[in-house]
Amino acid sequence: GVKAKIAPSMLSSDFANLASEAHRMVEFGADWLHMDIMVRPLSSKIRCRNCSFNFTLQFGWVGFLLCSCSNFYGFAFSCVGLGNTDDSVLLAQYELIKLSVFIFDGLLAVHFVPNLTIGAPVIESLRKHTKAYLDCHLMVTNPLDYVEPLGKAGASGFTFHVEVSKENWQELVQRIKSKGMKPGVAVKPGTPVEEVYPLIDSENPVEMVLVMTVEPGFGGQKFMPNTMDKVRTLRKKYPELDIEVDGGLGPSTIEMAASAGANCIVAGSSVFGAAEPAQVISLLRNSVEE
Ligand code: DX5
Ligand code: ZN
Repeated sequence: GVKAKIAPSMLSSDFANLASEAHRMVEFGADWLHMDIMVRPLSSKIRCRNCSFNFTLQFGWVGFLLCSCSNFYGFAFSCVGLGNTDDSVLLAQYELIKLSVFIFDGLLAVHFVPNLTIGAPVIESLRKHTKAYLDCHLMVTNPLDYVEPLGKAGASGFTFHVEVSKENWQELVQRIKSKGMKPGVAVKPGTPVEEVYPLIDSENPVEMVLVMTVEPGFGGQKFMPNTMDKVRTLRKKYPELDIEVDGGLGPSTIEMAASAGANCIVAGSSVFGAAEPAQVISLLRNSVEE
């Protein structure tokens, strides 16, 4: 069977003491360190599910759109970008994007999280202090842009989202491997699991699937049990695959994930918020290995 990998999410650590936080987690029994890389894009793409039509919404764009197959049309407007740091404005912008998707019904706004975390420079600095496996989860609209810098910085795993890689996953996987990293693909809670099959069945396959168990963007959210169907389906189909779960995992939810077949467990707030993180890490491991 597959081995358990417990991956504390450094998003819940004290970023000002990242090296010592990493050391402490490794000492506590962590196998991997999960690094959440989020970038706010200056633009947001929408595309038709039916034809290849896609359009990039720039900041402040308002207009009428009609896709090539004429299936979808409507007004779109966008307020992303501008490097605004006011959180309330930022979230309002996110709502607007969702609204424009709603107007388009059937057009898909590609991956977007209303948060900003770390990037390659931080991975490079941390790499100088630890040999630990750095499990990087890319919540960005253009993962291809980060393959080279993260490879150079010393990342170990590179997991991109399937929602933003429909056109270029083959190139992505090939380039991730050529930089010596382990390629993984992530699915948001609303994305059907079938979308990752071609990436696993490929001649040059991804080596891990990350099933998001919360909407990506923030730590400390509530685990979504309905995502377990995807884990069960994947485990049945791929007995040897590394299946990672991320979001809301801890002592009260690990049983659901472990029995569904997940073996790589990301845990942020439940580990960092515990009085005895080592105990939580070993509890998570025992549940998976049972
Ligand atoms: C959410 C991130 C997670 C997050 C998990 O977008 O991908 O890795 O840090 O945090 P918890 O375990 O607190 O839900
Ligand atoms: Zn993550």
